[in-house]
Amino acid sequence: MKSVEELDQKLSEPSDRLIKDISELDGDILILGVGGKMGPSLAALAQRAVKESGSNNKVIGVSRFSNPEHREELEDQGITAIPADLMKEDELAALPDAKNVIYLVGTKFGTSGNECFTWALNSYLPGRVAEKYRESNIVAFSTGNVYPFTDVEGGGPTEEDPTGPVGEYAQSCLGRERVFEYFSKTNGTPLLIYRLNYAIDMRYGVLLEIAQSVYNGTPIDLKTGYVNVIWQGDANEIALRCFSKCTSPPNVLNVTGTETISVRWMAEQFGELFNKEPKFVNQEEPTALLSNASKAERLFGKPRVSLPQMIEWTAEWVKREGETLDKPTHFQERKGAF
Ligand SMILES: NC(=O)c1ccc[n+]([C@@H]2O[C@H](COP(=O)([O-])OP(=O)(O)OC[C@H]3O[C@@H](n4cnc5c(N)ncnc54)[C@H](OP(=O)(O)O)[C@@H]3O)[C@@H](O)[C@H]2O)c1
Repeated sequence: MKSVEELDQKLSEPSDRLIKDISELDGDILILGVGGKMGPSLAALAQRAVKESGSNNKVIGVSRFSNPEHREELEDQGITAIPADLMKEDELAALPDAKNVIYLVGTKFGTSGNECFTWALNSYLPGRVAEKYRESNIVAFSTGNVYPFTDVEGGGPTEEDPTGPVGEYAQSCLGRERVFEYFSKTNGTPLLIYRLNYAIDMRYGVLLEIAQSVYNGTPIDLKTGYVNVIWQGDANEIALRCFSKCTSPPNVLNVTGTETISVRWMAEQFGELFNKEPKFVNQEEPTALLSNASKAERLFGKPRVSLPQMIEWTAEWVKREGETLDKPTHFQERKGAF
């Protein structure tokens, strides 16, 4: 993985199984909150899949476009980009209808000290959106943070296990789920709640952070000693294939890799690739924020990009000092304060 162009190309490469699903999809695809870390690559993947399937459906991306480059990039690919602040009722009302909606909008960092904003964006806005798109299939992004910390030996909670969010960010995400669930039940809107744990792109994510620490000789805190990760291209593909799994009451899906990965082991892998000894502080606690992705694997098959492949690409990226977003995940946080 040598450049952003190569990365973008890889992230937007549709599989045959995605092209088949998209060819059977009725109606346009609208991505709300397209201007963040995942949206641009999700929209690009959707557009390529639509083209290769021979469908006439449109891909539309909505965001405030705080980074205006994202708008240009989308338009260059033939994606319709609509600038809008969804918190402004008139701007939300003016958006086009679409049969298939992916909801990415959310906020996490900066919650401490501005809790009311987090609750408004993460828990109130979903209700407004669910009302507007009551006739659509909605794939609503959520997070594995809605689960409590669980035993690292247990394989992570499944969708049937109880939620138990720690801290106000995670609680507001459960609020987002509950509000979507309420409107799905009340209006009969087909919905899927997509609980994601740590997407991996070369420019951000848990692997990048661990690789950078090993490369720079910075100590790695082992208290949160285990994580789940998934290649962002696979996470995006699953999101697009979820339209056919939307139901009322909602379907719930954990989306991540199936391995419970030891942070220490991962650092040692990077250590070998960089020929450097990783530095550690603290010891692994018996619990971590995990989720069990067996249902996603049963529905959609194995992710296309394996963990060893992600490690190899990330190591190359760090050695080459490839572009990064400087958006740390704070995966080590154990009290839910973001
Ligand atoms: N990435 C991960 O590993 C991960 C893990 C777990 C869960 N998730 C969840 O998955 C979703 C997508 O992830 P992400 O990493 O792409 O999130 P992200 O980087 O926060 O992107 C969400 C985007 O939504 C847009 N947005 C925010 N407020 C808006 C508003 N009022 N009106 C219109 N657009 C608005 C923002 O773009 P503009 O500034 O351009 O409007 C923002 O960049 C998020 O909800 C996140 O919580 C992600």
